[in-house]
Amino acid sequence: MSTNDDDADAVVEDGWSENGNNNHGVIKAPTPGVVRQKLPRRTVLTIQRELERIARRHRRLLALDSTNTRDRKKILEPRHATTEFHGNYYRDQENVIENENENDDEDEHYASLFDEFARVVCYSKVIPRKELFEAWAMALYVHYYFPPSKEEDHHHYCDESDNENDDGDNTDTGNDNDDDNSNNGNGKSKVYYQRVADLASGHGLVSWAVLLLDQSRTRTAICIDKSIPKSTDIIEQVMTKYHPSVMYDDANHNQNQIGIEERPEKQQQTLIKKRWHYVEGDICRNVLADSTTLIVGVHCCGTLSDSILELAISSNAPLCLIPCCHTVKSLPLEQRQDDVIDSILQQNIEKNNDDHGNSNGSHLPLLPTTKTDYIDQYRIQQLIDAGYTVQEERIPSVITPKNRIIVATPRLLSLDQEDILRDDNGYDNISSGDSKIIDNVDEHNNENNDYTTKHITTATTKNHTSSTTESSKVFTIPLADNEWSRSIVASQLSGRIAARMRKRRKPQNLNLSLYLPHPDKSLPLKSLNNLATTIATEIQNQKSFQNNTTTTKAVDDARYNKVVLYPTIITSVEYGAKGAVYTHPDTGTYSRSFRIKYEINDPTGIHPEVTKEEAKVLHKEVCRRIPIEFPGITLRQGIR
Ligand SMILES: C[S@@+](CC[C@H](N)C(=O)[O-])C[C@H]1O[C@@H](n2cnc3c(N)ncnc32)[C@H](O)[C@@H]1O
Repeated sequence: MSTNDDDADAVVEDGWSENGNNNHGVIKAPTPGVVRQKLPRRTVLTIQRELERIARRHRRLLALDSTNTRDRKKILEPRHATTEFHGNYYRDQENVIENENENDDEDEHYASLFDEFARVVCYSKVIPRKELFEAWAMALYVHYYFPPSKEEDHHHYCDESDNENDDGDNTDTGNDNDDDNSNNGNGKSKVYYQRVADLASGHGLVSWAVLLLDQSRTRTAICIDKSIPKSTDIIEQVMTKYHPSVMYDDANHNQNQIGIEERPEKQQQTLIKKRWHYVEGDICRNVLADSTTLIVGVHCCGTLSDSILELAISSNAPLCLIPCCHTVKSLPLEQRQDDVIDSILQQNIEKNNDDHGNSNGSHLPLLPTTKTDYIDQYRIQQLIDAGYTVQEERIPSVITPKNRIIVATPRLLSLDQEDILRDDNGYDNISSGDSKIIDNVDEHNNENNDYTTKHITTATTKNHTSSTTESSKVFTIPLADNEWSRSIVASQLSGRIAARMRKRRKPQNLNLSLYLPHPDKSLPLKSLNNLATTIATEIQNQKSFQNNTTTTKAVDDARYNKVVLYPTIITSVEYGAKGAVYTHPDTGTYSRSFRIKYEINDPTGIHPEVTKEEAKVLHKEVCRRIPIEFPGITLRQGIR
């Protein structure tokens, strides 16, 4: 083991096991986060310079000089916190900084904030190297273009001479007023976006970087992905541990209450205070976008980028998008064939040669000559047509080759959209109609509940469909930056348990019909239910039910502190529909139907629901025992 490894072990003792799991919730802190009063002004140019410098400095980590690019995907380890991100940015002897003149004070501030972020990421032991740099890069641009408040807006304290350098390298594809960021391009005062929705968020790293950059601690973030990766829990724990002010409104929040030690009864209260939430859901079906919330998407594969774009446009929300895995399916139907697109690109090449071939003087923009550029150009055009101001930025390609950021600011706001924008003091104006969605969210088990048709700006599926299960259709994730939406997210939708509850199968309902001695003196429901519950307990005690799945899951999820290793099956009985009454041919007794529900008593949603097969076993035994337990009553229909 190298000296560095030794150092790392010394730092992380008792905290993290080899597989990256936190065993005891005790982590020795790397240098704790420092909340500064105000970071220096930043421009697009300084962002680019900073990113290039960070990449150069960590060239070995990023394997920039190697042909083996797989190294870039290796997981960051705690030892890197001390070897790479130790905060001595300019005194690093091992990594030569090429241009010492560039080392000015303002860069140092940001570099050390990056180091703080990176150290925490290293301690999570779940993030591939290059993703740290990508996330930070995206966060810098998000923060630059969409600051959460006037105080965080670099233009607020940017003097005129600064503006000359400001947008030097970025491509303005939308309009002509990008030098002045103080309004929204329509003469109205600038809207600040405190809430950020990181869509298709994966680990959710971008959202954490965005929150960390906001020194005013007014930002909130919601991550949405169709499946919550395990890594998110770990990152949440380390971020909360080392940067509690990023996570909680209350900077004095008692850290001992946070994370894995937290008891269930405290969770609800704590959830609502959090600035960061993760909701499992389908972007194409479940998301209700809103003009008050900035939409961010990093490496959104294929048509997922288009769905996110549609979400933004349909709600007039600002957007920062890094598309990836381009496919012709993103194009209009008539251009989706390879030969069609190839011929368009060929024409573009020829036209560019004509326009630019013989002189440097042409001011015509170069036409896209690759599929990737063409598809992104088509996307940008859709935004411009919808009234957006669009800018393109590039993350240095040494960090990621899929590096185009489409930055889209909505220019014109319609009156009703303005109505629901937050006012200066907070959040307002939930129209009474909106409350309908609350009911629907509550009834997420009801598959007939199609509330996605109301108020909805979901990225529906003009061209792009999603292969999501039925269950994900029946709830909506509101993105709006108002108290109501944030509290629905916090209290009902976010987290792994809520996701499991939504996906859980319905309880099993099985029918039976009995011949009763007297039509008016029916078998009491309570008596039948007692029998069903007794039988369920007896059979469950034989441990033939729920064993395999439950045990592994229980161990896996033990950190939620809510686990019941063998959750009990509960039953409930009701009368069946009133239909024809049958008379027993021999005894003359009368028929009556009943319905028994078999379900798991598990409010956490962690355990799988009773399967149909399991319910049938229970039901068969109930049917067998009824004549024994209730003399005079016989089975007309059921499972024999
Ligand atoms: C390439 S990853 C990007 C993750 C993250 N943004 C990043 O940069 O690391 C794409 C993510 O999109 C998610 N995803 C794909 N289709 C989705 C959908 N319809 N709804 C929500 N998430 C989806 C995947 O689960 C995956 O986490």
